[in-house]
Amino acid sequence: MNLDAVREQFEQRAFNYDGLIPSLIPHYREQHDLILQLIPFETNANIKVLDLGAGTGILSALILQAFPQAKVLAFDLAENMLKICQTNLSAFGKRLRLQQGNFAEDDFGSGYDLVVSGLAIHHLDSEGKQKLFHKLFDSMNPGGTLLIRDIVTGATPRLTEQYEQLWRQYMKANGEDGAAWFQNYLKEDIPSSVEDQTKWLAGAGFADAGCHWRYLNFAIFGAVKS
Ligand SMILES: C[S@@+](CC[C@H](N)C(=O)[O-])C[C@H]1O[C@@H](n2cnc3c(N)ncnc32)[C@H](O)[C@@H]1O
Repeated sequence: MNLDAVREQFEQRAFNYDGLIPSLIPHYREQHDLILQLIPFETNANIKVLDLGAGTGILSALILQAFPQAKVLAFDLAENMLKICQTNLSAFGKRLRLQQGNFAEDDFGSGYDLVVSGLAIHHLDSEGKQKLFHKLFDSMNPGGTLLIRDIVTGATPRLTEQYEQLWRQYMKANGEDGAAWFQNYLKEDIPSSVEDQTKWLAGAGFADAGCHWRYLNFAIFGAVKS
């Protein structure tokens, strides 16, 4: 699936995204608690944050709340996702900026102390992810932290298959059409293993590249720029 198709999917899904996503992604909300705990800055730190593929801004909002001096750029391909982000996060005023663009091609700025990305980077293939990790390294300040939560593959094809089957059951148990969502996933998404991605992060120059949390084919992983 090309990027125009990915964008179109999210333009359409934007309006019911926030209600739907916890039914599709196991432990969606709990993942945010851990991501916030993994941010290594004092709560009063004046940090510059990039949320890559921010969508409707669910994680950006939590960061802006937890770090009252933080400024966040919510960067996303889909205008409708960003429109909802702007409406939902209007209380944060100028601490939130929005930018529409493709993180594989477009400039998303620099000087970041924290970069987060949720469920977005798996739209790039292996080469695209590696290029992005180099670009992220260049965009971050020394001491900066990168935290990615994403769909990943298992360490072997058999494990991937097992995880994906359990994931379909999770969606079905929440009243969703697991088979249809799974077909979409096969068309839209290009997940890589967390093992490869932490290796690519180290290859891009990051330190402490590692996996912080994992459940089936979902992981939170990241690294620091030392
Ligand atoms: C599943 S949503 C995730 C939203 C939010 N980060 C979350 O964790 O709930 C994926 C988002 O990534 C965006 N996205 C996908 N590929 C992108 C790209 N190449 N550049 C910018 N945004 C992208 C989509 O438009 C969509 O809003």
